Amino acid sequence: MKTNISIVPELLREDPQLAYRILRAFAAQKKSMLVDRNLYGGKSHELGLMYFRLTPLCNLRCVMCGQRGDKGVLKGAFAAAESKKVLPLDAYKRLVDEVAVKKPVVYLWGGEPFLYPDLFPLVDYMMESGLTVSVNTNGTYLAEKAEEIVRHKWHALFVSLDGFEETNDRIRGDGSYRRVVEGFAAINREKKRQGSHFPYMGIVTTVNNLNYKDLYRLADAAREFGLAWHIFNLGTYSNDAIVARHKEFMRTRLDTEIKCLEAYNTGYNEGIDGAELHGILEKIHAMDAGHPIITVPALEPDKIDIYYGDLEHPVRRTCSVPWSQANIDYNGNVHFCADYPDYVLGNILEKPFFEIFNGEKAIRFRRELKAAPNGNFPGCVRCYQNMLCGKRLKGF
Ligand SMILES: C[S@@+](CC[C@H](N)C(=O)[O-])C[C@H]1O[C@@H](n2cnc3c(N)ncnc32)[C@H](O)[C@@H]1O
Ligand code: SF4
Ligand code: SF4
Repeated sequence: MKTNISIVPELLREDPQLAYRILRAFAAQKKSMLVDRNLYGGKSHELGLMYFRLTPLCNLRCVMCGQRGDKGVLKGAFAAAESKKVLPLDAYKRLVDEVAVKKPVVYLWGGEPFLYPDLFPLVDYMMESGLTVSVNTNGTYLAEKAEEIVRHKWHALFVSLDGFEETNDRIRGDGSYRRVVEGFAAINREKKRQGSHFPYMGIVTTVNNLNYKDLYRLADAAREFGLAWHIFNLGTYSNDAIVARHKEFMRTRLDTEIKCLEAYNTGYNEGIDGAELHGILEKIHAMDAGHPIITVPALEPDKIDIYYGDLEHPVRRTCSVPWSQANIDYNGNVHFCADYPDYVLGNILEKPFFEIFNGEKAIRFRRELKAAPNGNFPGCVRCYQNMLCGKRLKGF
């Protein structure tokens, strides 16, 4: 299986400046692990990647989604009430002015980021400030926004698609596959018409027991979509025992009540046949797709069963996230863990970002994480950020 940065060599040929910025973000992460984590007693001077969850709202209800799915924590009246708290553009601009010196790569997501009313001015402002901007979307608004996206030269789009038509629509809702495919076609048409290679775009597929048998058909169909990558995310999962241990740990060590991890206790990992999935992924990696195929996390073939069947068994160690990454939530809260925003470091409406990033709560979190077995908390075992950035556990 290819590693996470297999996209970079292609990018170096086509757009060296963008490749340089991405490599710089990777370098910030590496440096923070080697230097900041060991020398600065819980502070960090690096910032390579920032996630912005722009809105709690979404137009889809994907079954496995930790926000809006079966077990999602951001639904109905609660989500509607939360949506009143979304940050105004000015608050984001102040934050961008503050962090621009670090030139982080930013990842805009949600909910559905196209439901944030000032998405286009925000992306413009970030890009003008020297940030590299990627947008993670369900793709259902791409067709109607294609002309604008290409005209504004957005850097990258990560578009979620979870199977060939029938499978995808079972997970993500009727008609969603068609809308995404039409969106890809519209973006490609506009890129040609406007003579631009932006945005680079690719698929993110979240693997679960509803779609794993159908991944080859999707990968095969995707060859026609004009993509720059196809990422297979093996998925974020939890179970009762992990939730209980994580709750206890966070309550006693960090005075925090945990709610979000339970949203990933979905059971959509159950019944996945590791050998069969490995065979499918191997076939996909071997195909001439015309774009890199990336599996996150890249695992040894005989360990896929453990990934889905033995959730408590770590596959990555030493979470590096708090030393070089931060999440800004729609309400201005800052936290380290994108999917588990329970431990709040502070709020950008109340304090400058870097005071929060190296404030008392951040330092306390980093010290606890560094001291924890394997450099992970109990709930970190299948965390997506750890799968992306954590160190490979020996044999995995
Ligand atoms: C929560 S969505 C937000 C952005 C946008 N609405 C979308 O669907 O792309 C971000 C990503 O998380 C993925 N996702 C949803 N549920 C997940 C889960 N249980 N495990 C891992 N990834 C998940 C989605 O498929 C999507 O690629
Ligand atoms: S589109 Fe994204 S945020 Fe919306 S329900 Fe699906 S995965 Fe969740
Ligand atoms: S691995 Fe743990 S500490 Fe690191 S980002 Fe994930 S949940 Fe947070």
